[in-house]
Amino acid sequence: MNENDSSIVASILTDYGYRIVSSEDDARIYLLMTCAIRDSAESKIWGRLNHLKSLKKNRSHPLEQIGLLGCMAERLKEKVLSSSEAVDIVAGPDTYRDLPRLFAVNKLTGEKAINCLLSFDETYSDIRPVTNQNDVTSYISITRGCDNLCSYCVVPFTRGRERSRPLTTILDEVRDLMSRGIKEVTLLGQNVNSYRDIQTAPEQINRLDLTDVVKAKENFATGFKTVYKPRTKGLTFDVLLEEVAKISPELRIRFTSPHPKDFTDEVIEVMRRYPNISRCIHLPAQSGSDAVLERMRRGYTKKAYLDLVGRLRCSMPDLALTSDFITGFSGESEEDHLATIDLIQKVKYNFIYMFAYSERDKTHAFHNLKDDVEHEVKLRRLREINDLFRQQATELNNKLIGTHQLVLIESESRRAGSDWQGRIDSNVKAIIPKTNVYNTEEKIERPIGPGDYVECLITSANSQTLKAEPLAITTQAEYQRRERSTELEQQQNYRMR
Ligand code: 5AD
Ligand code: SF4
Repeated sequence: MNENDSSIVASILTDYGYRIVSSEDDARIYLLMTCAIRDSAESKIWGRLNHLKSLKKNRSHPLEQIGLLGCMAERLKEKVLSSSEAVDIVAGPDTYRDLPRLFAVNKLTGEKAINCLLSFDETYSDIRPVTNQNDVTSYISITRGCDNLCSYCVVPFTRGRERSRPLTTILDEVRDLMSRGIKEVTLLGQNVNSYRDIQTAPEQINRLDLTDVVKAKENFATGFKTVYKPRTKGLTFDVLLEEVAKISPELRIRFTSPHPKDFTDEVIEVMRRYPNISRCIHLPAQSGSDAVLERMRRGYTKKAYLDLVGRLRCSMPDLALTSDFITGFSGESEEDHLATIDLIQKVKYNFIYMFAYSERDKTHAFHNLKDDVEHEVKLRRLREINDLFRQQATELNNKLIGTHQLVLIESESRRAGSDWQGRIDSNVKAIIPKTNVYNTEEKIERPIGPGDYVECLITSANSQTLKAEPLAITTQAEYQRRERSTELEQQQNYRMR
């Protein structure tokens, strides 16, 4: 999200005549895009600011202005200015359009300039984030903010109320990115699948032929509830996902981060019908204990989550899942932790992002619950989750050895210049030697390059990376036409089980 926000800031500023420099030494303005989700994220920024403070004084040409952007700016507001004399500008996530004015005010008056107003409708929908020429993949922000108010989380306070970008602006951006060579887009939002476009006018909806889907929908996935009143209006995520998927079978589509409650049957059905939507879902669970989930205000039980995983895998048997877990949340007992371990054992994730609970002020947990699990215990539980998931991910990846997978080549491998790196549909990284292979469309043999879909044979694996032998350069549509029958067969087998 912050990477995408940085590209939005870059776009706004280049329109005003600012230039992005490639080396820190050449910069006259230095902007830090910050995160506030855990204390550790903020500690890194304080360290960075100390370093910048010395740069301000000790450089041959001066570093004129330092700006702190994003969630930490929003959380601390004026407090940033009193805690660090290095900072000249403070701007929250909804005020990036105001940056040129803030720079000017600071320059003219010598006073520190700050704008941390949160907005109900800012989505930067008209701003085309700056992308690199050689990029094969891109993010597209579709919602901002979050209304879920999970009891541990500061995001609703730093990013404000949830709002969605109009559908047509997203479709235009996808088309534009494709025309610039992008092959994969990741739809982005704090709560990406609670997308609801309430701005698209009825006449546009008619033009898109979506009239019949704009019936009132307030359904969450079965077994899930929210702290806020269910919404009924607008175009929902399944509609957006289908429209994006229809743009081109050559586009690979991912989205992150969804909330389990918004995985309606409609979303699952769209995913099932469009093979160009990646068979990898990030499904943050946070905990496997009902008591902890209740205190976290996540709105589901372990059973509801597992039932959802069952519904997803029934429709997409080869689905890869990733998740977020927090260890040592208020009152988490050893039994609660074992319930989490049990959930992980049952689901089998390809990747887990795991975090020790970090108390954040303003949150419900800060006001009402105790941060009472010792730091060492939080870390030990993290290690246990880590060991388990690595072992499972290795097993899952080993099962891919000998199979054919479609790899979208992204760039040169970081380890060896003689290899390419890319990702298979379920998002696992694959390393491929730089060789010539037959191109089924062009009917010639040619070198593989970034942006190519390459059918590969998986030859070896560890918990996070696959090694693969390229067989042919092909198209996603061609490959998926052949694979489709295998998926239908797998669906039937899964249902019979
Ligand atoms: N402490 C630790 N982890 C947190 N997350 C959110 N808030 C906190 C917190 N206070 C984690 C959740 C979320 C991910 C983005 O960050 O797991 O899904
Ligand atoms: Fe935070 Fe919960 Fe919103 Fe995710 S869904 S951003 S964890 S409040």
